[in-house]
Amino acid sequence: MKKSINTFLKHPVKDNTNRSANPPVIRASTILFNSMQELYQHENKIKKHKKISHYSYGRYGSSTTIELENMLKELEQAFHVFLTGTGFGGVALAIMSLCRPGDEILVSDNVYGPTKEISAKLLKEFNIKAQFYNPDSFKDLQNKVSKKTKMILVENPGSNTFEFQDLSKIVSLAKKKKIFTFLDNTWGTPLYLKPLNLGFDMSFSSATKYFSGHSDAMGGSLAVNRKVFKKIMFFYKLSGYRMSADEAYLIIRGLRTLDTRLKKHYENTKTVINFLRGQKKVKEILYPYKPSSKSYKLWKKYYSGATGLLSIVIKSKKKSSVIKFVNSLELFGIGYSWGGFESLAILQEIRSTNKDEYIQGRNYLRFNKDEHIVRLHIGLEDPKDLISDLKRSLRHIS
Ligand SMILES: Cc1ncc(COP(=O)(O)O)c(C=O)c1O
Repeated sequence: MKKSINTFLKHPVKDNTNRSANPPVIRASTILFNSMQELYQHENKIKKHKKISHYSYGRYGSSTTIELENMLKELEQAFHVFLTGTGFGGVALAIMSLCRPGDEILVSDNVYGPTKEISAKLLKEFNIKAQFYNPDSFKDLQNKVSKKTKMILVENPGSNTFEFQDLSKIVSLAKKKKIFTFLDNTWGTPLYLKPLNLGFDMSFSSATKYFSGHSDAMGGSLAVNRKVFKKIMFFYKLSGYRMSADEAYLIIRGLRTLDTRLKKHYENTKTVINFLRGQKKVKEILYPYKPSSKSYKLWKKYYSGATGLLSIVIKSKKKSSVIKFVNSLELFGIGYSWGGFESLAILQEIRSTNKDEYIQGRNYLRFNKDEHIVRLHIGLEDPKDLISDLKRSLRHIS
């Protein structure tokens, strides 16, 4: 029977031995074989990318992580999925597997801070040049492609400022020039956008966010096509990147309800945005909600849904009053990360000039000095309560 992906996410992993609806958590370093012949045969099977139910050594994962890999392979329509201990491990895995001294990497200027930092700072030490392109200008990207460009790294929408890009154009350009492509798809998840089907070589998600959904697990998922598989596998094995069985179990549990949670995040976000639109102190809402806007058109062109992360631009000469607004929210926690059941708020310093910190600053920033960006994650609470909280706290802005 052909099943929808939402049905699939409820059913694939069971524990038939113990009659449980959930898989067992298999923690293992040593994996036992009946004979040397069986061990050799199994290693050969792994090398040939055959279907397996366990690895030959715990550093590559266990049967619990294989269950998660298989779920994500289906969700991403991928040739293979590499799991890492944190989301950022997945970003580093892609870059370090494919870029070598003398290469250049083209990175969207609005990527997650540490992605910018690894590109600009660490790669420089390996003689790999990073160039940052304006996410609002395909021309800028085109102009920066050179014979040395090895990889284009895109995050869609961009962290904190939520610009959407014309993804197919990027893929066509890269294919013509034989450049690898990577998309950080954490915001949309592979439920709403399948980057590999669009032609990207790598689709990345921080599993810490919506996949796990409960703010209690960390992980990364790098889904890849056949073209880049071998190179990434080479580095994956030698770097020791891996996800633990316990985290894999929690992420499998989170994926069961991904579709239902995302629908509710979206519904709540729309309700909160309807309130925010009427607020004088909110100058702009960075989220694809206005049909006439460029971001809405590009979102609609590629995505089948939207999630719960957005930013609001607040105009104020007094940054301290914006901080007061964030501090006085009762239902929005202050803290990093997002994608869990709960609402969060954080003031984002996208103009940071401190070179020793994460490079949050933008080369292509269109915001003025008195415009401040507060990122909100709209959780699964009753949106009426979230609105009351925002309404009360917005009064602090002067
Ligand atoms: C867009 C994006 N990509 C990657 C990451 C890194 O994921 P993790 O925190 O799981 O390492 C984050 C974390 O906030 C993120 O927001």
